[in-house]
Amino acid sequence: MALADFLAELESLTKAATAAFEAAEDADALEAARIQFLGAKSGQLKVVQKGLGKVDKADKPVAGKQFNETKKAIEGAYKRLKDQGTTKTVAATASTDKFDPTVPGIRPKLGRLHPITQTIEELKDIMGRLGFTVAEGPEVEDRWHNFEALNIPAEHPARDPLDNFYLAAAEKAAGKPDAEKGWLMRSQTSTVQIRVMEKTKPPVRIISLGRVYRPDTADATHYPMFHQIEGLLIDRHVTMADLKSVLRLFAQSFFADDVHIRFRPSFFPFTEPSVEVDMSWRGGWMEMGGAGMVDPNVLSAVGYDPEEVTGFAFGLGIERVCMQRHGIHDIREFFKNDVRFLQQF
Ligand code: FA5
Repeated sequence: MALADFLAELESLTKAATAAFEAAEDADALEAARIQFLGAKSGQLKVVQKGLGKVDKADKPVAGKQFNETKKAIEGAYKRLKDQGTTKTVAATASTDKFDPTVPGIRPKLGRLHPITQTIEELKDIMGRLGFTVAEGPEVEDRWHNFEALNIPAEHPARDPLDNFYLAAAEKAAGKPDAEKGWLMRSQTSTVQIRVMEKTKPPVRIISLGRVYRPDTADATHYPMFHQIEGLLIDRHVTMADLKSVLRLFAQSFFADDVHIRFRPSFFPFTEPSVEVDMSWRGGWMEMGGAGMVDPNVLSAVGYDPEEVTGFAFGLGIERVCMQRHGIHDIREFFKNDVRFLQQF
């Protein structure tokens, strides 16, 4: 085949393809034109490409180069039409001042609250319905509120400095470190019981939720920073039966009846008697928290008369109840901040 004939074929193909793309009224027609000219199997460009083999050997480099240019031009024309829209969509766009309400919107990615925050909100809601209001307390605590007022005297093992996060800077600011003036990250939300009772006359009916810190080694059910919900109810004639009822009602609301709870005798310096609250978990029992009747010594320490009022208190691990609720098997998942985990809640 003569070079001139081959080049003429290329030129007319470019014109025909461009015209067909421009004439396409909608996306289907444009696609049909694409197949007609650029189709991988029997598109016209392929047919013309076969003619390349018949061009004289000496002319092949020029013919090949021109063929590649043509291919690029036709592909470019197709892409341009596809990007800018076919005649129909272009017309529609022009008539509505370049705004096409039929184009699907871009859905914004919505964030969500961390599962622990969601759990905290739900716990507040449930306990609110039972008449408990929310009290706040500081995460950096003095030793009096963290220990002494909770009936944990200086020689008690829970005061072992190795067992707690003390704040050297705060200690320095408070003068020479001594047994009473030092500061530490609170190791339980029970500190808030004391702060509330110091300021309020009975009756008291509060919950307090927040972070606590302990030098526990992280494993599937422990983390050095975790959250607790503390509950405190002080009034005349409060008994252990009230404690049981409130915790059962809480468990029934939060787990939609889908859980068994049990009380085991236990010891806390600030409650007497004391119990551990367990909930059924993966065929066994998981400790959710501690509870008990507020020790008369604690009531006296804040100026209440233990002959006149009694009360109960409880403290539950929020991560543990959240794990139980969602079937989460490892507490560390909460703090890895892997969105694939977090977006499930
Ligand atoms: C207490 O902290 C008591 N203040 C509870 C209490 C309150 C008793 C009021 C009586 C009256 P305990 O150390 O058992 O108790 O901790 C309570 C719950 O916190 C545990 O049952 C568990 O659910 C959770 N918890 C404790 N340590 C960790 C940890 N390292 N990681 C995650 N959760 C924990």
